[in-house]
Amino acid sequence: MTNILIAHQPQFDFQDTPLYWYDHSILKTIFINAFSCLIPQTEAFLVLAIQEIKEQIKDLSLRNEIEIFLEQEKNHMVAHSAFNRYLESLGFPIRSYIQAIQKYLSIYKVCSLEQKLQLCILMESITSSLCENYIRSYLSEYNQFAPHQLLMWHSIEELDHRCLAYRVHQELYQTYQPKYFRNAFFSVKTTWMVFKIILNMLHIQKNLYWPKTWKDIFWLLGPKGPVYLSLKGYLNFIKQSYNPGLAYLQDEQLIQMSKAWKANYRKKTNPNVIASASRNDTPQNERVNSSI
Ligand SMILES: [Fe+2]
Ligand SMILES: [Fe+2]
Repeated sequence: MTNILIAHQPQFDFQDTPLYWYDHSILKTIFINAFSCLIPQTEAFLVLAIQEIKEQIKDLSLRNEIEIFLEQEKNHMVAHSAFNRYLESLGFPIRSYIQAIQKYLSIYKVCSLEQKLQLCILMESITSSLCENYIRSYLSEYNQFAPHQLLMWHSIEELDHRCLAYRVHQELYQTYQPKYFRNAFFSVKTTWMVFKIILNMLHIQKNLYWPKTWKDIFWLLGPKGPVYLSLKGYLNFIKQSYNPGLAYLQDEQLIQMSKAWKANYRKKTNPNVIASASRNDTPQNERVNSSI
């Protein structure tokens, strides 16, 4: 593990967020909003799968890391659920988007433990590819909007997760033989879901046919855009020689910058608010179990 392995739950206030908070771009903002609204359900899948797998891990230090991983993922769920409530207040039918991903992910309940773990590695590989790019792009800039801070905080913690899911796989199965086609279907299906949500959100905002909306289409499809980065995450995942830990461990600059951002962020936020926000009304395990 390379990051600061601390699970804490900052509170984000989305109320003063401008409608197009991401570079004043309609398409970039809607992409992140669409992608983000599925996060609580994908995190719930990860948490349930890793909780199940944890029982088979004998290495105590790895088990401890898994505990913190689970805590972090539950915290991400809580924070993105809060962001979802904000998106709902803008008139987006978030519940219907959530139901669609819930229904789809329920298929994987019957999969073998190894398949679930492979799906976790794939999810972590894709998200860390997106997260790494996001961190590199925005680490040196200060952006006061709450969704941006949520993404930075989440992205920095995600960098460690791809290493952890892979290490758990190594501990249990020793060899790494990714299932190409089954997992390709997951990638295509979830990309299609996000694409449909983007179109629906643009339609609701009456931005679908406005030329200004599509001026960032090259960002969406280009080498620093989410489509390319997701594909890169999938291609990394299917490599027989895949070792996510190695690539990240060598990038000392990224680690140091991420640590500095996170330490700075924790200093800026009120520790009392963080502490009280980490345990709100419903126990997190209950929320995880009821959300998938
Ligand atoms: Fe996460
Ligand atoms: Fe993660």
